[in-house]
Amino acid sequence: MKRTCYCGELEAKDIGREVTLEGWVNRRRDHGGVTFVDMRDREGLVQVVFNPEVSGPTHEKAKEIKSEYVIRIKGQVSRRPPGTENTKIKTGEIEIVATEVEILNPCQPLPFRLDNPEVTEEIRLKYRFLDLRRPEMQNTLRLRHRAAMEVRNYLDQLGFINVETPFLTKSTPEGARDYLVPSRVNPGKFYALPQSPQLFKQILMVAGFDRYYQIVKCFRDEDLRADRQPEFTQIDLEMSFVEREDVMEVIEGLVRTLLALIDVEVPQKFPVMSYQDALLKYGIDRPDTRFEMLIQDVSPLFEVSSFAAFKETLANGGVVRGFKAPGGTRFSRKELDSWGKRARELGAKGLISIKVTEEGLQSNLLKYLTPGEIEGLKDAFQVEPGDTLFLIADDEATAAETLGRLRIEVAQNLNLIPENSYAPLWVVDFPLLEWDEAEKRYIAVHHPFTSPMDEDLPLLDSDPLKVRAKAYDVVLNGQEIGGGSIRIHQGDVQRKIFQLLHISDKEAQVKFGFLLEALQYGAPPHGGIALGFDRILAILTNSPSIREVIPFPKTQKAQCLMTGTPSLVSENQLKELKIRLTVSPEGD
Ligand code: AMO
Repeated sequence: MKRTCYCGELEAKDIGREVTLEGWVNRRRDHGGVTFVDMRDREGLVQVVFNPEVSGPTHEKAKEIKSEYVIRIKGQVSRRPPGTENTKIKTGEIEIVATEVEILNPCQPLPFRLDNPEVTEEIRLKYRFLDLRRPEMQNTLRLRHRAAMEVRNYLDQLGFINVETPFLTKSTPEGARDYLVPSRVNPGKFYALPQSPQLFKQILMVAGFDRYYQIVKCFRDEDLRADRQPEFTQIDLEMSFVEREDVMEVIEGLVRTLLALIDVEVPQKFPVMSYQDALLKYGIDRPDTRFEMLIQDVSPLFEVSSFAAFKETLANGGVVRGFKAPGGTRFSRKELDSWGKRARELGAKGLISIKVTEEGLQSNLLKYLTPGEIEGLKDAFQVEPGDTLFLIADDEATAAETLGRLRIEVAQNLNLIPENSYAPLWVVDFPLLEWDEAEKRYIAVHHPFTSPMDEDLPLLDSDPLKVRAKAYDVVLNGQEIGGGSIRIHQGDVQRKIFQLLHISDKEAQVKFGFLLEALQYGAPPHGGIALGFDRILAILTNSPSIREVIPFPKTQKAQCLMTGTPSLVSENQLKELKIRLTVSPEGD
C-alpha cells in the first residue's frame, strides 16, 4: 500500500477513486455502529467511514484508533449522504469508505488538546512538535516558506547575488551584547556570533559583487520582548554605486511583494517622514500612521499663562503637547485617572484630560486658563463634541515619548486603529550621533559606518549633534521592520567619525581593522539595509509576537523549552576549552 494523495486534497471530482491515505487521527467518533475518523495531514482533513457492512474486520480495528495515532487506510472516495456535508472544510462533500486500516504508530495521551485555544505558551513551546501540527502553525510556516521564496525570486530578478557570511566571526557594531563561542584550538580566544553581516556585506561591495543579499540568522544578546528574539532572521542586502533612493525603491518593491502574499496592496512609493517630524507628531521614531490623533505642540499658547505648571515647564525649556482622542468622552472619571497613572508610569509628571461636550470643555484645568487659552486649545486640536484632549507639560523627550505611547494605547482602547490596514513609511534624517551622558561621549545612533549627510559635514566640527545621517528605517503599522544607510567609503570621513566617537586608532584597528583596510583598496560608494523577516511575518499573520512565526523560538529568558537550551556542559568540555566557571549554574 503506498500513499496515493494527501488527505486534505480530495474533492467531489475524486468520487469513485480508490485511494490510500497516511496521516494522523484528528478525532474518532462512533455513531450507531459506524465509526468516523477525521484523518489529517499537512493538506487538511478528510472524513473516513468504517462501516461494519463494508469493512468487517477493518471496522473492528478502527475501534482501537485514538487521537493522533498515525494510520494508513485504503478506501473509496464517496459522496457524503445528503445533509451531512461540511461546508467548512475543502473535503466536506466527500468521505472515504474504508476497506483497510493499519496502525503505523500509536500516540500517548496528549499533554494538551491541539484545538484548545487556552493552552499556555509554555506548554506549546515545550511540546513544539505537537504545537506545530496545528493548522495555524502549519499555515504560518508555509507562509514563511512562500515569503522566503518570493524574496529570493524578487532579489534574483534584480540581480542580487546570495552570498553566505560566517557565523563564527568577530563582534559587529550593532550595539547589542555578543553571543560568544570559545575556541578550543585557540584557548582563551572567542568567536562572536554575528549581530548582523554588516561588515562582511561591505567587504563584498569592496570585492565588486555590486548587489548582495542573504536571508540570514543574526544573534543578539539583548533584553527580549514580543518583537525581539536572541536569534532572528534578516533579509540583508547591500548595493554599490547607489543613493538612498535606490535602496528605498528596491525595498518598496520587496515589501509590496510580501504584502501581496496576503492580498494587500500598498502604494508604489512609501511616504517619507523626517525623524524630527515623527517625534513631534507621533512621539516615536516608528510612527503608526494607520490612524490620526497627531500630537500637537501647544506651547506657544501658554508662554504667558497664569497656570503655574505650564509656565514653569516652558520657562525651563519644556513643552506643552497633547493629542485628541475622538470618542474619548466615553472614559469615566476612574478611567481618566488610570490614564494619568499610566502617564506617570511612562515617566511624565502628570496628564491633563479635557472632555469636549456639546456645552464646551470640561476639566479641572479650565479654572486656571484664560478664555483666550481655552479658545486656542479648541482651535489647535479642531475639537468636536465627544473628543477628549490629553495634555502633558514636561521636558521635550518625556512629553514626546509618553504621548507617543499613550496615543497608541488610547487608540487601541477606543478601537480606533483600523483592522486590515497597512501603512508603510520611511523615516529619514536621523541624527548621526547622540550624547551618552553616562559615558560622556558621542555614540553612533546607527553604527559607526553610517555616512553623514554631505551638506552636514561642516557641522561635524561645529555642532556634531546636528549632523544628520544618510540612514533610513522602514516602518509598517508602527513597527520598525527594517533599517539601513549609505555607508562611509572614504577613509578621512571614517577617521573623523571614530575620533568623535572616541574610538582610538588602536581600538578601531582591533575591532574593524579588516574593514578599514579594505576601504583603502578601492571601495565603491555603497549602502544597504536589513529587514526583520520575523517582524514582517508577524504583521502578515497578525500575530502578537514574533515567537508565533519562528518555528523554534526562545522564551523571554532566552530558553528553548523543548530542547532545554541553554544547558550545562560536561567538566571535560570545559577543560578542553580551558574554561573554569566562577558560579554554579542555575538548576545545578
Ligand atoms: P538593525 O539593527 O536595524 O540593522 O536590524 C535590522 C532589522 O532587524 C530587525 N531586528 C530584530 N528582529 C527580531 N529580533 C531582534 N532582536 C531584532 N533586532 C533587529 C528589525 C530591524 O529593523 N546591519 C544593519 C542593517 C544595515 O545597516 O544594513 C542592522 O542590522 O526589524
